[in-house]
Amino acid sequence: MISVQVNASSAYPVHIGAGLLDQTGGLAAQAVKSRRCAVVTDSTVGPLYAGRVCASLEKAGFSTLLYTFPAGEQNKNITTYSKILEFFAQNRLTRSDCVAALGGGVTGDMAGFAAATYQRGVDYIQLPTTFLAASDSSVGGKTAVDLEAGKNLAGAFWQPKMVICDTDTFSTLSTETFADGVAETVKHALIKDREFLDFLMPADLRQSIPQVVRRNVEIKAAVVGEDEFERGTRKFLNFGHTLGHAIEKCSSYRVTHGHAVAIGMVLATRAAERLGYSPAGTLDTVIKANQRFGLPIECPYTAQALYDAASGDKKRDGGSIDVVVLEEIGKAKTVRLDMDGLRAFTEAAL
Ligand code: NAD
Ligand code: GLY
Repeated sequence: MISVQVNASSAYPVHIGAGLLDQTGGLAAQAVKSRRCAVVTDSTVGPLYAGRVCASLEKAGFSTLLYTFPAGEQNKNITTYSKILEFFAQNRLTRSDCVAALGGGVTGDMAGFAAATYQRGVDYIQLPTTFLAASDSSVGGKTAVDLEAGKNLAGAFWQPKMVICDTDTFSTLSTETFADGVAETVKHALIKDREFLDFLMPADLRQSIPQVVRRNVEIKAAVVGEDEFERGTRKFLNFGHTLGHAIEKCSSYRVTHGHAVAIGMVLATRAAERLGYSPAGTLDTVIKANQRFGLPIECPYTAQALYDAASGDKKRDGGSIDVVVLEEIGKAKTVRLDMDGLRAFTEAAL
């Protein structure tokens, strides 16, 4: 088992290893005082893994409740969130009980938001089962649901007490869902660690999962430790996201988050090169990285459609928005744009 410590406003470990779901109870007992746990999962992950998680929790002395919602980003919304809260209330969950988010980023974000807000906050642990959730969303305490107006528009910062990543769960992921995690991995390398990109490019990622998840978590933990509430450098983690979120929204969430971020990184870098924020050759590296891992590079939407979707992004601060660009490979910076600047950036991206 590999363990990485996250030093945010509360410190917690991220445990990474094969077969860890069967150790959930013993590990969770080190992290939470409660011995009553509401496991929240989705309709794909529940039948695969919830039985083992509940059995392990019960073996360690927890009583368990299980809530299953229909899988998919289209269900990461206020309706599902509200049903989770009602389930907690009907089962008399109290502030001294705990929640376990078992699944991908949709489950982690939504169960995390329910934990953050139910009775003004209950403890929770993250049990990521996608490469994306293990490498990114389960760490750092961002929780949210989508609104009609856009992605993640209602949410909270609420750090988990522990993250337990069983890398065996990735064996049941589709190629496309695995690739979503590759996109966030490439993002971490592009914004923070050129050597990591050099390692990734020739690697067989399926054979290097523990090392790759570990490096992703180390990068994310370092960023979150420095700027938990995204006042500065945490914004770098949003590389590819302003236009990526716009693509997700334009597609009514048929384009998955990781694939949208992959295209968003290409678009942001094309605009950044054309507008002089990134040196020549940066776009070529981003495109090659996407192509190497079978990630998309073409945007199916017009600049106008992307601008309309992006101008509602939550990263907008009054009349301006910070977009993330690469100063060089392995180093990011933000550029503050007013709405005319965002329009010009979006037009230069295509
Ligand atoms: P997801 O949770 O929808 O999972 C993708 C699909 O894979 C779902 O159908 C799910 O049921 C299925 N699945 C999950 N684990 C499986 C397994 N082991 N075997 C078989 N199928 C499995 O999507 P995701 O890509 O994990 O996460 C995307 C979400 O994460 C987006 O909503 C995005 O906004 C969010 N996100 C949040 C953060 C953060 O910091 N909080 C960071 C990145 C992304
Ligand atoms: N995925 C963006 C963040 O955690 O800040």
